[in-house]
Amino acid sequence: MNITVLKFDSLESTNSEAIEQSKRGAEEGLCIVADEQTAGRGRYGRTWISKKGDGLYFSVILRPQLPAGFLPLITLMASVAVSDTLAELYDLKPDIKWPNDVLINERKISGILAESTETAKGLAVILGIGINLTPLISAEALVQTATSIEEESGHAVDRDRLIDSLVKCLSYFYSVLQKAEGPKKILDHWATRSSYFEGKDVCVTLEDESFVGTTQGLEPNGGLRVIAESGELRIIQAGDVERLRTNGDNTVQI
Ligand code: BTN
Repeated sequence: MNITVLKFDSLESTNSEAIEQSKRGAEEGLCIVADEQTAGRGRYGRTWISKKGDGLYFSVILRPQLPAGFLPLITLMASVAVSDTLAELYDLKPDIKWPNDVLINERKISGILAESTETAKGLAVILGIGINLTPLISAEALVQTATSIEEESGHAVDRDRLIDSLVKCLSYFYSVLQKAEGPKKILDHWATRSSYFEGKDVCVTLEDESFVGTTQGLEPNGGLRVIAESGELRIIQAGDVERLRTNGDNTVQI
């Protein structure tokens, strides 16, 4: 993949800018980075707080040569790349929460949003990655659930070095994904980096129901297998998964 990085002071959303550029014919590998986003978004239309300098706000245009059924693996592939970048550069020990939240000690440090769009050159996938660089002090509600590279490593972040390493790691795992047996290899990489792969007690929230169960591996397309309390095997393709927290008295908090 030929990488070009375009940097902006401020954008509504790096994903939106990348979608526009892809529709204007931009090549695979064009990366968009902004110092701040005024309308950063996360999965399910949630807001991604994107204050100036507090995070890395990054999107890359992909034009994958993959059967449509394997497209969900792009987000899993990206979470592996983010996880390895944080481990290599800052000596952190990331975990991946299905499908693609990167956590440090149970707190979220990075989120990934892949969006697909039809363009004159065919389907493009816009892979958006947000990484918290500094503590989110302005967002009280997130203090318990979010963390940042600065908090975890004790060092200020050199953003250009982070972008450079992230892009190299993404290019590597993206090329793995597109080779023969690539989807299986990405699933194996994900499995070795995620405590959610197998045997994790979780609460799954879908559009119209929630249930409790235990994870039991991934489907070939990245769907999460969960054995519900009833014993039924459920395959989760979309939804939120949270680990169950057991209180001292053995009650379960969901
Ligand atoms: C999530 O955890 O729900 C996904 C968050 C993705 C945020 C990134 S920041 C760069 C890119 N631009 C956006 O508007 N969103 C993604």
